[in-house]
Amino acid sequence: MQFINRDIELKSLNKKWQEKKPHFFIIYGKRRVGKTELIKQFLESKDSIYFLADKRNEKE
Ligand SMILES: Nc1ncnc2c1ncn2[C@@H]1O[C@H](COP(=O)(O)OP(=O)(O)O)[C@@H](O)[C@H]1O
Ligand SMILES: [Mg+2]
Repeated sequence: MQFINRDIELKSLNKKWQEKKPHFFIIYGKRRVGKTELIKQFLESKDSIYFLADKRNEKE
């Protein structure tokens, strides 16, 4: 997949990242607009943990 656009969003996240202090971001929008992908692209070059808290039960 070729990741396109989202320059403004990535720049904004990276600017905060460089401050080296905690920040809290709320990313919202309709489904399939690219929220998850944006987070994954942002984290790609960083030491990070991605954890999706979904509604699966423990067994699954
Ligand atoms: N900037 C982008 N460029 C290309 N494809 C993208 C981009 N953002 C998302 N996609 C693709 O669009 C689909 C939906 O994105 P996704 O991040 O899962 O949306 P959301 O989390 O908002 O529901 C995925 O297949 C993803 O790979
Ligand atoms: Mg998503």
